[in-house]
Amino acid sequence: MICGLRGFHEQDDEVRKTFYSRHTNKKVRYFSNVNPFIGKAANWRDTISFFLTPDPPNPEEIPLICSYFQKHLVLILLTSMNWTLLMDNFFCHYYPACPEPELTLGTSEHTDGDFMTILLEGQMGGLQVLHENEWVDVHPVHGSLIVNIGDFLHLITNGMFVSVYHRVLARNIGPRVSIASFFVNISPHGICKVVGPIKELLSEESPPISRVTTVKDLLAHYFDEKGLDGNTPLKPSRL
Ligand code: OGA
Ligand code: NI
Repeated sequence: MICGLRGFHEQDDEVRKTFYSRHTNKKVRYFSNVNPFIGKAANWRDTISFFLTPDPPNPEEIPLICSYFQKHLVLILLTSMNWTLLMDNFFCHYYPACPEPELTLGTSEHTDGDFMTILLEGQMGGLQVLHENEWVDVHPVHGSLIVNIGDFLHLITNGMFVSVYHRVLARNIGPRVSIASFFVNISPHGICKVVGPIKELLSEESPPISRVTTVKDLLAHYFDEKGLDGNTPLKPSRL
């Protein structure tokens, strides 16, 4: 996976250019700087993303150099069926060395807008999580995967599981590569679904932290309004 991802990002501009798009209806999309038009600052990062629901992309839409990804897709789809969770999309990030890292970030602080995210990263480090108001380095462990809890799990468990703030530093060493697989549902599909805290988890001591809302309203934050501005999209629905 990591070699395929590096292979794609290290090709000639002319080849990469053919995949470049910011249209959310494209299943395979290559873009730079996250979203410089709505975010506070351009992130020092390039990404190729693959959206899998409701239908995965056709094999010919996947860059040849990433053909290993097909195996990943089959594997993940099979495993996620067991979990009754569906991987909705995965993002392959490439963080080049940054000549002035103090001026920006690789990925700004955010929580993930899904149930959980499984992250495969190279051995460069640079990922941090917010713990007791301090940014803590997550040191890469070879052969391991990182699992992040996302906003939907936070919401439906009424805060029993907490969606973690995280970010990636821009650094003058690189490239850093990572693959984030998002388990339902950051895409515009399934957007009308209603989500709210599970009733069985509510009591007088544990009142609902959030009103019942829709996936669409939660995700509007990422897609239309704020980008990665460090405000969790749970905020507007917090009680
Ligand atoms: C993300 C993310 C972290 C990384 O894509 O949401 O947090 O290590 N990525 O690239
Ligand atoms: Ni994230």
